[in-house]
Amino acid sequence: MTDVRAYDLSTWNRSVEGEIHRLRLQVDLSWKKEARNLSWFGLQDGMSVLELGSGPGFFTKKLLSLVPNSSITAVEIDPTAIEYFQQYLQGITSDRLKMIEASIMDTNLPDNSFDFAIVRYVLWNLPDPIGAAKEVLRVLKPGGKCVITDYDDEFYSLVDPPAPKRLLGFEKLNQFVTANGGNPKFGRYLWRILKETGFKKLNLEAVILHSDELGIEPLFKISFDEAFLVPVIQQGFLKETELEEIRAETKQFLSSPNALIMIELLMICGEKPLAT
Ligand SMILES: C[S@@+](CC[C@H](N)C(=O)[O-])C[C@H]1O[C@@H](n2cnc3c(N)ncnc32)[C@H](O)[C@@H]1O
Repeated sequence: MTDVRAYDLSTWNRSVEGEIHRLRLQVDLSWKKEARNLSWFGLQDGMSVLELGSGPGFFTKKLLSLVPNSSITAVEIDPTAIEYFQQYLQGITSDRLKMIEASIMDTNLPDNSFDFAIVRYVLWNLPDPIGAAKEVLRVLKPGGKCVITDYDDEFYSLVDPPAPKRLLGFEKLNQFVTANGGNPKFGRYLWRILKETGFKKLNLEAVILHSDELGIEPLFKISFDEAFLVPVIQQGFLKETELEEIRAETKQFLSSPNALIMIELLMICGEKPLAT
């Protein structure tokens, strides 16, 4: 399956294992707050849940315990992610969990079949997020809800003391993402995208992570690991010498006693109207 996408699990990081570790950390660090928001948005045990772009399954596993009587259908396009998912979640019965290899752009799932859909860190990497949101709208039952969790690079992570080389790294990363069909400024359009798609009763919230609570190294790892720059260098957006400068600054930043990082992720919920 070859849909255009800026994110590739196998090339995003220095190794697949490295990226899988980062994705696990990214779920662990924010799960409590995301779970609280999901429940507040209306996720209830027993609902039929659809998770799109489920990756290696770390979020899926948390969902399985948050809604222990729900059936969960996971959709994923990447065979490497699917293989890991199947290993990680093996032994879970098929009435509780189904994995479907498909694109969010065209899932082949029946109309009006799910109560709740979750799309986490997926739409930023797609050239047609409205097309993806339309597909989610189609498969939701009338009155069903969709929650999209995503980011916008301009307020995704704040660091103190300032790290100018890191900003250069982000600029180059953004050029890479844009050239590959994604949108690093996606978060600011979430409301418009859901509105244009036809979702109603929109509700936009944020989850804040702070290094004073969670530690500087893990927050740095999920928000700006220098390993993100591997494909950026490979595609010629960043020079090795620039990477060296970023590395030196990172080392200094991480050893600074007062260093802090704040991360903000966005969560929006929309409802499928009862009559369309
Ligand atoms: C950054 S990862 C996030 C994984 C997971 N949702 C999480 O939060 O841990 C993005 C995932 O979306 C998947 N993806 C990208 N484009 C997709 C598409 N068109 N259809 C389905 N999945 C897609 C990727 O393969 C990857 O597993």
